[in-house]
Amino acid sequence: MLKTVKTLVPAGVKAALKATVQGYRLRRGLRAISALNEGELPTRAMLRSLSLGWGNDGYAANLDYLEEVARNAATTAGPVLECGSGLTTLLLGMLAGRRGVVVRSLEHSAEWRQRIAAVVSQYQIANVEVLGSPLRDYGAFAWYDPPLDQLPEEFRLVVCDGPPGMTKGGRYGLLPLFGRRLPEGSVILVDDAGRPGEVEMMNRWRSELELTVEVFNKPAGRFATLVRRG
Ligand SMILES: C[S@@+](CC[C@H](N)C(=O)[O-])C[C@H]1O[C@@H](n2cnc3c(N)ncnc32)[C@H](O)[C@@H]1O
Repeated sequence: MLKTVKTLVPAGVKAALKATVQGYRLRRGLRAISALNEGELPTRAMLRSLSLGWGNDGYAANLDYLEEVARNAATTAGPVLECGSGLTTLLLGMLAGRRGVVVRSLEHSAEWRQRIAAVVSQYQIANVEVLGSPLRDYGAFAWYDPPLDQLPEEFRLVVCDGPPGMTKGGRYGLLPLFGRRLPEGSVILVDDAGRPGEVEMMNRWRSELELTVEVFNKPAGRFATLVRRG
């Protein structure tokens, strides 16, 4: 019966209904997380609501990685650097930005940057700036071309989820560009840590920096937490 009714509903109406439910979930997730006390972590249900409300499957962080981002964002002394903006930008803002910790997100796509900046502004998420950083060819690798003089001298947390995997050298460029701004004890979170490009990148980083690496194998994917030692 329900199946028959579903087939009778025009596609436009279905899409509008889906968008309404998604918007409601996003607002509910954002409200719940914004209402947390300082240092309190979002529940899995809150993150699920946020994730379902955001959508953008195939690009956005999965729940396990979001939990790791939330755990670090809620406790970092900051500042926070994000490479590749999206759902994680909102989460970083709600858990770190709200505590007065500066969050700077690098985004190569002007269109996507505009979209994320609009959501940040709409929900009045404090201390977050999404910076347009086109990709630049540095010779051996390509990476963002960030406005370095506008960025903090040190970052305590990096969320590494960009640039896109097919970029020359993948996400390796973080180290040559920001290595000297990452003090001992700073944390780098790497999403998609099971992909060959990310495995190679982490091995390269380890050969150049003293890092403690912990890899988490989860059903939805693999991510890694790297801590700079010395
Ligand atoms: C893996 S995504 C970053 C995701 C982000 N950390 C999150 O949790 O939503 C890396 C890059 O993909 C691009 N991107 C994100 N969503 C996209 C979409 N729906 N279509 C095309 N590019 C997208 C953006 O430029 C972004 O910086």
